[in-house]
Amino acid sequence: MGRKFFVGGNWKCNGTSEEVKKIVSTLNEGDVPSEDVVEVVVSPPFVFLTLVKSLLRPDFHVAAQNCWVKKGGAFTGEVSAEMLVNLGIPWVILGHSERRALLNESNEFVGDKVAYALSRGLKVIACVGETLEQRESGCTMDVVAAQTKAIAERVSDWTNVVLAYEPVWAIGTGKVASPAQAQEVHFELRKWLQANTSPEVAATTRIIYGGSVSGGNCKELATQPDVDGFLVGGASLKPEFIDIIKAAT
Ligand code: G3P
Repeated sequence: MGRKFFVGGNWKCNGTSEEVKKIVSTLNEGDVPSEDVVEVVVSPPFVFLTLVKSLLRPDFHVAAQNCWVKKGGAFTGEVSAEMLVNLGIPWVILGHSERRALLNESNEFVGDKVAYALSRGLKVIACVGETLEQRESGCTMDVVAAQTKAIAERVSDWTNVVLAYEPVWAIGTGKVASPAQAQEVHFELRKWLQANTSPEVAATTRIIYGGSVSGGNCKELATQPDVDGFLVGGASLKPEFIDIIKAAT
C-alpha cells in the first residue's frame, strides 16, 4: 500500500501580503517529519501563489484553489491550468464545496476540471462531501459516490489525484466528524474505487479528511486506517498547522 500521509492547508480567501509572509515564516521554522513521511501542500489565494512559492521551504509545496475547465482564452476572471504550470505551481484544489454551493459547480463540471488539470500535468486535490440534510436523510454515500463517479468517468490515471472527503456540515463549524464517521466514509469511498476503477487505484489513492481539523483532534483522526491525511482550512492559517502535520507520525 504505502500511501504517504498528505496534509493540505487551504487558506481560502484570506490574508494580506504581510500576513501571508508571517504564515510562511512560521511554516519555515516548523519542526516536522521529513518529506518521506508526509507531503505538505499549502494553498494561498491566486495573487499570493508566487510570493508563497518563492519564500516557502523546499520540502513544502503550493496549490492553487481552482483553475479554469479548459484552455485559457476569453474567460474573464479565470486562471487556466496552463498558467499554473507556467508558474511552476504543482497542485490545484478542485470541487471544493464552497465552489460547488456558491458558484453552482456541478459534478460534471468538476469532473471536467479535474480531467483537464491532470492532462496539463497538474496534481489535483479533488473534494467531495455531503451536506447536513443529505447526511440526515441517509444519502451520504450516494452523494459522494456521484461526485466521485463524475471524476472517475473522465480520469483513468489516478496517480496524481488526492481525494478529499469534506462533509459540508463540518467545514468551518467546529463540528468535526468523529474518527468513526470519517473512517466509515473513507472506507466506503475506497470500496467504491475498488469496484469502479481498479483495486490498484483503490489501494494507492490517498483519501484525506477535511472539516474542522485542529491540533487537538488530528491525532485520533489520523489513526483511522483509511484516513491518509487532511485538508485543513482555518487551522492552516495558524501555528497549529505544524501540529497537524506532525499527526503523520
Ligand atoms: O478545504 C478545507 C476546508 O474546507 C475545511 O475548512 O476551516 O473547517 O478546516 P475548516
